[in-house]
Amino acid sequence: MTDKEILGNIFDAMAGGTDTVNVKRRLSQEFDEILGNDFTKPITNKELDELEYCKAVIKETYRHTPIAVWIGRILYSAIMKRKDYWTDPEKFDPNRFYKIEESDKYLLEKQHIKNSYTLFDGGIRACPGRKLAIIELKFLLSSIYRKYDIEMVDQNAPLNYFSDVLTVCKDLMAKVKPRKY
Ligand code: HEM
Repeated sequence: MTDKEILGNIFDAMAGGTDTVNVKRRLSQEFDEILGNDFTKPITNKELDELEYCKAVIKETYRHTPIAVWIGRILYSAIMKRKDYWTDPEKFDPNRFYKIEESDKYLLEKQHIKNSYTLFDGGIRACPGRKLAIIELKFLLSSIYRKYDIEMVDQNAPLNYFSDVLTVCKDLMAKVKPRKY
């Protein structure tokens, strides 16, 4: 498969299976409920802990398009798309990580299959920064999205990124508007 075909497949999968408008709406709703609408108020640890949907969005984003693609012999991107580990693996849906015990759809996810989510790897060499990384990402997302509406300039433009050991985004044109409460 050429690089162009791989990119095309990724784009098709995202465009076909993603309801990003609803994901964004739900994310903003969670920020509003937990953080309130005074965005000069500092975000507390307790509030970050409560951002469960935000955590699900982060986890699903990294499952769908991992930053660490492979290390040594482990191809993380393939493990996180296995049909016997993940329900409808090409689909981007944070719900597979959200209140999963109540779900009657994500039955594979409910089994918490060992080593199926390899973002931070597992075992004794697992990433020691994993908890900090999730806290930082929650903080980053909430700090931006509570204040701004962000949209892609061209929803249909091919994603411009480079993937080897790591995935690196080359550019991502976005429209950023202050949110109105
Ligand atoms: C989203 C952010 C991050 C991702 C995706 C990530 C992912 C990973 C992965 C896949 C490994 C390899 C584990 C292995 O070799 O089996 C690793 C190792 C490591 N990570 Fe992270 N990491 C992240 C953030 C961080 C942060 C914030 C820190 C420190 C504050 C950190 C510190 C380390 C260290 C020290 C290792 C080496 C562990 C060892 O070799 O024993 N990482 N990380």
